[in-house]
Amino acid sequence: MTTTVLIGATGNIGRASLAAFRTAGFSGVLRAASRHPQRAAQRLPQPGLEWHFFDYAQPGSYAPLLKGAQALFFIAPQAEAVPAARRLLATAAEQGLQRVVYSSGRTTGDVPGRPMHTIEAAVRASGLAWTILRPGWFMQNFTGWLAPSIGEQNAIRLPAGQARTAFVDVRDIGQVVARVLTETGHAGQTYELTGPEAFDHREVAECISRASGSAVHYEAVGEEAFRQLARGWGWSDADIEDTLYLFRLVREGKEASPGPDVERLLGRPPRSLADFCREYAGLWRTTT
Ligand SMILES: NC(=O)c1ccc[n+]([C@@H]2O[C@H](COP(=O)([O-])OP(=O)(O)OC[C@H]3O[C@@H](n4cnc5c(N)ncnc54)[C@H](OP(=O)(O)O)[C@@H]3O)[C@@H](O)[C@H]2O)c1
Repeated sequence: MTTTVLIGATGNIGRASLAAFRTAGFSGVLRAASRHPQRAAQRLPQPGLEWHFFDYAQPGSYAPLLKGAQALFFIAPQAEAVPAARRLLATAAEQGLQRVVYSSGRTTGDVPGRPMHTIEAAVRASGLAWTILRPGWFMQNFTGWLAPSIGEQNAIRLPAGQARTAFVDVRDIGQVVARVLTETGHAGQTYELTGPEAFDHREVAECISRASGSAVHYEAVGEEAFRQLARGWGWSDADIEDTLYLFRLVREGKEASPGPDVERLLGRPPRSLADFCREYAGLWRTTT
């Protein structure tokens, strides 16, 4: 029986992937990694799912997580991403894993010198059968880190200018993760994961307003104003500067074109922003 390891299993992509495996009736062993496996097991119970301790910052936790497994899905950590990913890939090869799926980023995966670009190169050189996923901006950012400002102030304040973004629903990413880990034919492939259409943030605010009944507006803020906002949310300087870099790419239009890969992989169109707004409307209403 195949054992598949998921790193980042408690996060947005990881939770969506676990749900996709559950829905697909996956019959192998799923080994989910967390720095807090007991808490994760209580919060995310699932038949056939084993929770294991893993911390990128603790080299001794790599081999026990990967021992006896055949396939690995991972996202890289925020800190020391490149050495951590290299160590993970080397350990996976030592432990005899056959398949690796790395979730990178749509635009930064292509930029030499950025950690995701370097990690993609390490994945391709790992000797394992690799697949790289490059998701665009998540729709779930509006129900995650942006939800308090939407719910409490009816505002989306971002340095995104008037640029369009082909937002992807994380549930589609999760379904793609489950597909590429369970089907053959994905080795050596890099997939760009987007939604079906691109929207600017004023249109996102309108979508949320229509669904929730609150008058949410978008304010295009400058970089310094965003720094102030993000410091107020408790973000580190490194996270703020990384995010500002990503929004420069957004303003350059690099996230604007929808791609065909989600539909090709799932055999149906990607979930739409309108459906996302309708399905999550209750969440924005309850935070007002
Ligand atoms: N947000 C977007 O729009 C967007 C778009 C494209 C790409 N991305 C990329 O997608 C990734 C984020 O994915 P996500 O949103 O699913 O993650 P997330 O919700 O931010 O969750 C982070 C995950 O990483 C795990 N983690 C954090 N530090 C760890 C450590 N030291 N050792 C082991 N595990 C650790 C956490 O597990 P525990 O806390 O349980 O240990 C958790 O499962 C990032 O690489 C981001 O750059 C994001």
